[in-house]
Amino acid sequence: MTILLLGSGGREHALAWKISKSYKCSKLFVAPGNAGTATIATNVSINILDFEAIKAFTMQEKVEMIVVGPEDPLVHGIYDFFKNDSQLNHIPVIGPSKIGAQLEGSKEFAKQFLIKHNIPTAAYNSFTAKTVENGCDFLETLQPPYVLKADGLAAGKGVLIIQNLEEAKTELRNMLVGEKFGQASSKVVIEEFLDGIELSCFVLTDGKNYKILPTAKDYKRIGEGDTGLNTGGMGAVSPVPFADSVLMEKIEDRIVRPTIEGLQKDGIEYKGFVFIGLIIVKNEPMVIEYNVRMGDPETEVVIPRIKSDLVELFISTSNQTLDKFSLDFDTRTAATIMVVSGGYPEDYGKGFEISGLENIDGSIAFHAGTKLDNGKIVTNGGRVIAVTSFGDTFQEATKKSYQNIDKLHFDKMYYRKDIGFDLL
Ligand code: AMP
Ligand code: GLY
Repeated sequence: MTILLLGSGGREHALAWKISKSYKCSKLFVAPGNAGTATIATNVSINILDFEAIKAFTMQEKVEMIVVGPEDPLVHGIYDFFKNDSQLNHIPVIGPSKIGAQLEGSKEFAKQFLIKHNIPTAAYNSFTAKTVENGCDFLETLQPPYVLKADGLAAGKGVLIIQNLEEAKTELRNMLVGEKFGQASSKVVIEEFLDGIELSCFVLTDGKNYKILPTAKDYKRIGEGDTGLNTGGMGAVSPVPFADSVLMEKIEDRIVRPTIEGLQKDGIEYKGFVFIGLIIVKNEPMVIEYNVRMGDPETEVVIPRIKSDLVELFISTSNQTLDKFSLDFDTRTAATIMVVSGGYPEDYGKGFEISGLENIDGSIAFHAGTKLDNGKIVTNGGRVIAVTSFGDTFQEATKKSYQNIDKLHFDKMYYRKDIGFDLL
């Protein structure tokens, strides 16, 4: 079948890599893709929020399935756009409906869903510019640190964790009145701080049934020892050693099943990935966020561990037959190390030539921010290449990735040398 994948990061290269191995896939397009996806698929230059352009391309190339990488097209309603168009409604879109995508598109929607369906999460309250002073009063009743979350999509930057009460009030005013994150912070969720270890749980649902995918842990901070600014993710490991069967059973019983049942009870169509961000507080899992897509770089470790055919899995998702699908995983550990451009997540340059990719041996180099420029592969983003390896332990896997990263070079290249440090 002919498949169109939307997105351009490491997540999409990993999805494209797996899709292209499927006997069901005869032609794969990636819009817009990167230099990595160009080696295994055909990149097409379409704006992924231009649904009319996606429609025209889909009709022209007889595309038979749409796989959505990032959240933006989902929050903008690409699922509904296809469903409501008589020329497109036979084509499955892997991703939630527009209302389902609000689980990521609005923190308040997500909190209301969690509370309504009795899913463990931090206590919260939400405020607008009109109620900003009530928000400040609410902060007075909490213990530090204070967690402020912009309601809408803010490119992963909308969460502030602040130690000082006065500073928290100032930031709350900046968000609500000063429009610090624009429209995204016209509403702010103030949440109880949860002290524990983070874990990401990935689920694929067809709206009725679900499959739990391998767990992963990502490393969000730019600096070693989890210090410095937050990034999109500097590396990931799967499985997570502390996510044993006792914890996974709690996660399934208290979080995953109630989430999928909640979607059904609320009449929300959802045929796609659910990424549940968890904090484990004294062995009890609590939800800190939903995302309606796979994580990046978590995809670069989760997808390679799936042994089953990914396109068959997506077909089963769209047919609502996931209950009959037998999903096989590689039991080894996968680790990925993100190689970034110096300066990231603040200002960084682009267009630096990348050398050494051809020498990578025993690892997979998933391109995150690259493009082809006159036949050369150059950097085209802050996060540049995710180097994934397998091992019997995460130490063995990360070691292989580091050995291969030694062969790579571009100007101001940087990576964390301690991915997995806290798992010992
Ligand atoms: P989010 O975008 O909701 O994942 O938040 C970004 C990061 O903020 C998370 O990965 C956590 O490290 C942290 N965080 C979010 N909510 C909380 C909370 N209630 N308590 C502690 N840390 C949190
Ligand atoms: N790595 C975190 C995310 O994709 O949101």
